[in-house]
Amino acid sequence: MMDIARFSALLGQRQAGHTLPQDLYISDDSFAFDMNAIYRHSWLMAGMACELPKPGSYMALNIGKWPVIITRDANDEIHAFHNSCRHRGSILCQPGHGSAPKLVCPYHRWTYNLDGSLFAATRMPADFEKGDHGLKPVQVRTVAGAIFICLSDDPPAFDEFGDRFAEYAAPLNFKDMKLAGTDLMVEQANWKLVMDNARECYHCATGHPDLAKSFPVVFSGFFDAEGDRRATEYAAAMDALGLPHQAVQGDWWQMSRFALNEGASTISMDGQHLVKKLLVEGNGGSVGSFRWALDPHLFAHATSDHVFTCSFLPVSATETHAHSRWYVHKDAVEGVDYNVDELKEVWLKTNLQDRDLAENNHRGVVSPGYTPGPYSPDAETLALQFADWYCSKAQAYIDTHAR
Ligand code: FES
Ligand code: FE
Repeated sequence: MMDIARFSALLGQRQAGHTLPQDLYISDDSFAFDMNAIYRHSWLMAGMACELPKPGSYMALNIGKWPVIITRDANDEIHAFHNSCRHRGSILCQPGHGSAPKLVCPYHRWTYNLDGSLFAATRMPADFEKGDHGLKPVQVRTVAGAIFICLSDDPPAFDEFGDRFAEYAAPLNFKDMKLAGTDLMVEQANWKLVMDNARECYHCATGHPDLAKSFPVVFSGFFDAEGDRRATEYAAAMDALGLPHQAVQGDWWQMSRFALNEGASTISMDGQHLVKKLLVEGNGGSVGSFRWALDPHLFAHATSDHVFTCSFLPVSATETHAHSRWYVHKDAVEGVDYNVDELKEVWLKTNLQDRDLAENNHRGVVSPGYTPGPYSPDAETLALQFADWYCSKAQAYIDTHAR
């Protein structure tokens, strides 16, 4: 049983502008608390609809220890369910992608339609009601070809994010992509330290020499480059193409489109395109990066030639899985239009560097000498914003569940 009063006290100890009390990063029950208070009650990006290319396609993933399955049915409608059989609870599908006309539980062969309804269950009594034993639904929204899920029946407001996302993503046509590569990286660090690291570029100039060749690592604040000549020229070029670029944000999301380094057309080892078949052709295929980020778990960059998403899912207080995905135009041919190792190189290198930074951070946070320290309001605006968001989300959960 989770000691809610203890978490309330820990949140009460937090000093404004500072990192969190030690227990919130390292204790085992902080994981259980975070899964319930944060991950269960947030919108999470599960992937792209192009990963479910035809009726019967499905993908299964774990949110912490909670298994979820997403399907495309015969009417091309996308559904999400708890991946837990309504007989005795076995998972139906292992994590990953697959395709099947129906979902068959491997244990006793209960069989479900792609819309989650129970199709068949043998040797059950005459009064058994199939209609009462469909898969339990998970909230799902598909916007501009991206799939978002929430495990709560009372999810946070989505529409403002959804409208903005549709507006910013539209020119890139995510519906016409395919999944070109994936990576799973295990990090021995608390997910909040992993996220802190992902939300600031204070460390980038020295920590990411490869990324720094194409990515403007010196941004301050919220991708704020106001007054910079190139930023002004970029804004005019994007306005001319009708591509939205202002930095906008809501309670749990941020998005913007910004210029890459001079001469860089994409985020790559040398700034040159990694894929010949582009997602968007305007401005010579140089449209900067559309970045979106969701609390608690994701950042993503869409450039003219590919999309990279990185989702952080905790599996314990001390271990976080970073799931990376690379998408390219569906007609791009591997070995002809792109090389998958080159496609993945810059973010694989960057993620390994970030893993080391987050793991070192975790090793230091367990020290009896750890005391919460101050964020840089200039260089760590978004990391501080994330810590503040975490605290207010955790407090809201306590306020609702403590009674
Ligand atoms: Fe699924 Fe028995 S647990 S059929
Ligand atoms: Fe980094």
